[in-house]
Amino acid sequence: MNIILLGPPGAGKGTQAHRLVAERGMVQLSTGDMLRAARSSGTDLGNRVAEIMDGGSLVTDEVVVGLIEEQLDQGVGANGIIFDGFPRTLKQADALAELLAKKDKALDAVVEMQIADDEELVARVSGRFTCANCGEVYHDQSKRPARDGVCDKCGGTEFKRRADDNAETMRTRLLAYYKETSPLIGYYYAGGKLVSIDGLGDIDEVAARVKGALDGRG
Ligand code: AP5
Ligand code: ZN
Repeated sequence: MNIILLGPPGAGKGTQAHRLVAERGMVQLSTGDMLRAARSSGTDLGNRVAEIMDGGSLVTDEVVVGLIEEQLDQGVGANGIIFDGFPRTLKQADALAELLAKKDKALDAVVEMQIADDEELVARVSGRFTCANCGEVYHDQSKRPARDGVCDKCGGTEFKRRADDNAETMRTRLLAYYKETSPLIGYYYAGGKLVSIDGLGDIDEVAARVKGALDGRG
C-alpha cells in the first residue's frame, strides 16, 4: 500500500509514519528528513537549502522531486511507501503521479490530518525533540522518553531540536501550507484518494483513526 500523509507542520505526520513503519514494514519517505540529512552531511544541496528551510519556506520542486525519484529508482518500498511531507505543491503532486506510473505503482490513499488550531501546532513543534541516533520523535509534554535523557527505542542519549521549530518560523511554514499545499486536498479529493481525519487527540487515538482511514484500501 502506498500512501501520502498530508497536513500542516506539527500535525503528527512523522509520528504516525514511524508507527506505520514499525507495524506494517512500510518505508517512510520524508523529504524534510532527506533535506536535513543533506544539511548535516554538508553536501552542496544541503548548503543551498539550509537558509530556505530555516526561514520556513518551501525548497524548489525540482530538488524534492529529484530526492524522491532517487529513492524510487533504488526500488525502496516493497511493503509500501509512506510519503511524508511530499508532495507539497500541485507540481510535486503531478510529478509523483508520473513517477509512480513509471514504476507501475498505485497511490492507495491520501490521509489528511486535520488540525485547524494554529496554537496547538505551534505548541507541538515548540516542544518537539528527536533522538540524534534513530530519529524517534518526542515532545516536552506529550511524549517524553520513559527514562529522562534516554531514547526508548535505541537507548541513545543525544537529542536535538530543529532550528525552524519556533513560533516565528511557524508563521511562514503555516502560510506555505495554506497557500501552496492545501490545494492538494481538492486535487486528491477529486481523484477519490482523500481520507480526512481529526489530528487532535493523543497519539494512540490518532493512530486508530489512521488505521481506520487505511482499512479496505490497497
Ligand atoms: P518537514 O520536515 O516536512 O516539516 P513539516 O511538514 O513542517 O512537518 P513537521 O515535521 O514539522 O511535523 P509533523 O507533522 O511530522 O509532526 P510530528 O509527528 O513531528 O519540512 C521541513 C522543511 O523542509 C520545510 O519547511 C521546507 O523548507 C522543506 N521541505 C520538506 N519537504 C518539502 C517539499 N516536499 N517541498 C518543498 N520543501 C520541502 O509531531 C510534532 C510534535 O508533536 C512532536 O513533538 C510529537 O511528539 C508531537 N505529537 C505528534 N502527535 C501528537 C498528538 N497526537 N498529540 C500530542 N502531541 C503529538
Ligand atoms: Zn533513538
